[in-house]
Amino acid sequence: MRSQEEYLHAALAHEGDPLRGKALFSDAQRLACSRCHSEDGNGGMAGPDLFGVGDKFGRREIIEAVLAPSATIAPGYSTTTVETKAGEEYTGILKQVTGEWIELMGADAKPVRIVTADIRAQHTSEVSLMPDGLEAGLTPAEFTDLIEYLVSLKQPETAAMVEHGMPGVIQPLAKPVGLQRFMPEELKFEHPVWFGPVPGESGVFLVAEHETGKIWRLEEGGTGVPAVTDRRHGSSGFIKSLFLDTGTYQKGTRGLLGMTLHPKFRENRRYYFAKHVVEDGKFATIIFEREAAPDFKADSGKPSLRLLKFDEATNVHYGGGLEFGRDGCFYIGMGDSGPQEDPQGHGQNTKLFLGKMLRIDVDHHDGGQPYAIPQDNPFVGRPDFLPEIWAYGLREPWRFSFDPVTGDLWVGDVGQDRYEEVDIVRRGENYGWNVYEGFERFSNRYRREGETCVPPVFAYGRKYGPSITGGHVYRADPGSTFYGVYVFGDYESRRLFGLVQKDRVLKKVRQIGTAPQRIVSFGLDAQGGLYLVGYEGMIYKLDFERAVFE
Ligand code: HEC
Repeated sequence: MRSQEEYLHAALAHEGDPLRGKALFSDAQRLACSRCHSEDGNGGMAGPDLFGVGDKFGRREIIEAVLAPSATIAPGYSTTTVETKAGEEYTGILKQVTGEWIELMGADAKPVRIVTADIRAQHTSEVSLMPDGLEAGLTPAEFTDLIEYLVSLKQPETAAMVEHGMPGVIQPLAKPVGLQRFMPEELKFEHPVWFGPVPGESGVFLVAEHETGKIWRLEEGGTGVPAVTDRRHGSSGFIKSLFLDTGTYQKGTRGLLGMTLHPKFRENRRYYFAKHVVEDGKFATIIFEREAAPDFKADSGKPSLRLLKFDEATNVHYGGGLEFGRDGCFYIGMGDSGPQEDPQGHGQNTKLFLGKMLRIDVDHHDGGQPYAIPQDNPFVGRPDFLPEIWAYGLREPWRFSFDPVTGDLWVGDVGQDRYEEVDIVRRGENYGWNVYEGFERFSNRYRREGETCVPPVFAYGRKYGPSITGGHVYRADPGSTFYGVYVFGDYESRRLFGLVQKDRVLKKVRQIGTAPQRIVSFGLDAQGGLYLVGYEGMIYKLDFERAVFE
């Protein structure tokens, strides 16, 4: 038997024949690829659609995905095993989840519907449904042909993208943005997801970590003594001290997702975070309100207030972005909660919190609720809408922010298999998911006759990355060519982008740099300086000094 190394080397060193590879891909006798994968963008099979996989991944990543399927599992494609009360067991990918039943699709590509009331236990596993050792039936040359076929699956430029002014190539800057490590390496965080300043104290920040559920206080070159014992001093005088431990990690959840401080934090010490949990056997995102201690060095230890809870169908697209607007209202970005392709139409269902931007008033209470509904919310009094909804038709708004000058609400919305999008979200509007993905029609299933969907300001295909992270409009230095530029990035490709628009029409977009780590979030300091949160633990400060946006 040949080793995997042999296949890897062959496919890296040689060019194959994509047409022979295509024949192998579809050959049901020898390889079962096409039993689990479509390549035309239609999806609906057990495995992810491989449309544009040659743009999404490099050659080596594609080879590794085929040789070692379980090494990295595509988000939303974990294997689920269900045991019924009658003692039957089913294994497959979760394709649909409703209140009454779920649907799994296994290796035979046949959907199986299981009534929720009949389920005794349900697990997700770290082992891919895609079998190991598929290469064994192939010669290294045939394997190379198969890889060549996957590499050749590139996303075509479409008429809709051209019509909306999307460039075929996003030009890189001649003088890109610099990225400076903000803190010493030894203080690095464990999968940080949020970074923001503590108002009223110069050079003091809070950092929230994903699965550990910890919130840290980071003092830049500080000399003060932290209130808690769990602290570490960096070589350059930075102090990292524990602000709050939100509790133990639950398997399959994402832990902390996002945070924000009340605009009057200095007076009321109130702050908010979103946490992904399992509660009553279901995935949920919960928004908590807590109070800091009087010296602001740690949490007060007082009990939390639960503001809102969002029950979720699966453990993907959990939202969790939180921001206060200039209007003093509290905005929440909530994802569609899966499964992939939003088969239950959560994004368009206006009686659900899922796939929405929500707006509430946390300074007042309405009958029994820990918050009030702002009376100028767009759907107040409409029986077919939840009154918390500000805008809808989003898939996974991963990071949104307000431009402090114009008040515009900028959202990075993570796409399905084709497009990542940037939206400027306004009151009461529908951003299209899952009727549209980017500028393209995705599905007619939940389309309502006569309803307008607002197109994105900008969308990019797989060539530039598979997972957008929304950023901020740069406003620190009015003399900079970046003044007014919306800066954002892609989590996986680590590319940084900058764009300018007018009336939500793209004027210019550029690749402004590349991050050393996966881009999970952006943060600001009190002066509007921009920071990038690297998922591998480092915070970087963006340096616009020598960069020119042209
Ligand atoms: C039994 C179903 C099944 C078969 C057969 C199968 N796959 Fe997969 N494949 C999956 C599933 C499920 C995933 C997603 C989980 C993961 O990442 O391993 C996947 C993931 C992939 C990915 C990564 C896609 C991404 O976007 O991350 C590639 C590439 C791929 N498969 C190629 C192939 C090829 C080539 C074959 C045939 C040699 C094949 N698959 C056979 C189910 C299958």
